[in-house]
Amino acid sequence: MTAVVADFDVPSGTAVNSGAANVKSKTTLESNICQCLGFEFLSVSPRVRYGNIKSRATLELWMSCKQATSEDRILAHSDRRADHKTPLEARVSGPLAGKVRVPGDKSISHRALILGALAVGETRISGLLEGEDVLNTAGAMRDLGAKVERTGNFAWKVWGVGVSGFAEPGAPLDFGNSGTGCRLVMGAVAGCPITAIFDGDASLRARPMRRVLDPLELMGARVAGGGEGGRLPLTLKGARDLLPITYRTPVASAQIKSAVLLAGLAAPGVTTVIESEASRDHTELMLRFFGADIVSAQEGKHGRKIALTGQGELHGEEVMVPADPSSAAFPIVAALIVEGSDLVLPDVMTNPLRTGLFTTLREMGGVIEESNVRGDAGEPMAELRVRASKLRGVEVPPERAPSMIDEYLVLAVAAGFAEGTTIMRGLQELRVKESDRLEATAAMLRINGVSCEISGDDLIVEGKGHVPGGGLVATHMDHRIAMSALVMGLASDKPVKVDDTAFIATSFPDFIPMMRGIGAEFS
Ligand code: S3P
Repeated sequence: MTAVVADFDVPSGTAVNSGAANVKSKTTLESNICQCLGFEFLSVSPRVRYGNIKSRATLELWMSCKQATSEDRILAHSDRRADHKTPLEARVSGPLAGKVRVPGDKSISHRALILGALAVGETRISGLLEGEDVLNTAGAMRDLGAKVERTGNFAWKVWGVGVSGFAEPGAPLDFGNSGTGCRLVMGAVAGCPITAIFDGDASLRARPMRRVLDPLELMGARVAGGGEGGRLPLTLKGARDLLPITYRTPVASAQIKSAVLLAGLAAPGVTTVIESEASRDHTELMLRFFGADIVSAQEGKHGRKIALTGQGELHGEEVMVPADPSSAAFPIVAALIVEGSDLVLPDVMTNPLRTGLFTTLREMGGVIEESNVRGDAGEPMAELRVRASKLRGVEVPPERAPSMIDEYLVLAVAAGFAEGTTIMRGLQELRVKESDRLEATAAMLRINGVSCEISGDDLIVEGKGHVPGGGLVATHMDHRIAMSALVMGLASDKPVKVDDTAFIATSFPDFIPMMRGIGAEFS
């Protein structure tokens, strides 16, 4: 049998500990496959990076290959190499038009895989986001003993192991760039009598994990290793009978809340999470859908109190993943700023805890209409029609931040094209995302001729109705910086260039061809 080692930034000399013949290459998966025609393509571990996969066709080819067995596993992991950047330039484009479905929601995709793996029986998922972040979570579920299979385009099946049923993984769990995958799985592992090593890429290794480890330790999990602030890599030792706790989250974070609730599945009694600002509630909605005993109530003006009774069983379900509003944000803002645009986006999730950007853009004068409003498994969705609009500056209140926390970068682009000042308040959490997005947003605007100021945790953008452009934007391993800057270039006076588009594959693998398909000029 022959194993193929595709590029994926695997250091040369990396070995696959199975096949008779190993093909080692530094080229992309596509050329590897071509080079290796005539060999049986065995598989590549899902935990291996596939950052150089350039097209959906390639991704699908990879995904349809036989899944890795423990023997095929590539034992080394490394981050994308700095010399492997894929820059791109966006320039002023004609009207953006058409009907396009953006990929499945990232938050829901992670949760569907994790709850499927913790459930008893079969979970069928359609519309799963097949981006790197989610595929890493799929790999982790497999490494923890669940059976996870791709059955068609965006269609997956998971056969779960039951609450507390994860098996000890034979190698570190690698979450790549994904804070959500990593933190949610920490919660799920905490309730199992196993030890697991958590790791990720350089961006994830720089992000604080203490916010999740603190409550998990209170519940009885044990942590070893880890840098300052609980930085990866670290080892988490779970336990079957965790203590149910009442936990007030220190910041509005669905990741912290979800980690505690997933751990609470294994605790006898009621685990309660209180948040003073409500964060996205997909975990609560999906847990209820899978049969958990969970209730949620208003707490104060903007908060929620969620109570989960542990040690019940979850049962496998059928999950339809709606289109991701955080991904839709990019074509939406593009359509608003590119003259003459008229774009339709079907099936976009409209959970009110995710739609702060839509509210804000409408306040700015953006025309975004909803039709075909419906719901699935407690998650509402609608078809959005967006038309080019004259935008004006607005003030965005801090309490709206949790409902649009991933959208400030692209909102700042819209603010640059608006007439007047836009003030975005309460953005402290942006500092601990895939990059320091507060500084990165300001840098992206300034290098393209837009005046802005960071004042404490607020960002103030001076909109002049047009953006000079002409800047080269540093993406800092952050998919949303890359996509926001490319959107900016579609309507700016001079083109906007980004230094690296590779990380777009974490959340929106088809972004570039999809945008080209509606009229975006990238080169
Ligand atoms: C997410 C929660 C948010 C968000 C992230 C996805 C989730 O993070 O930024 O992209 O799916 O739970 P925080 O919970 O840290 O705010």
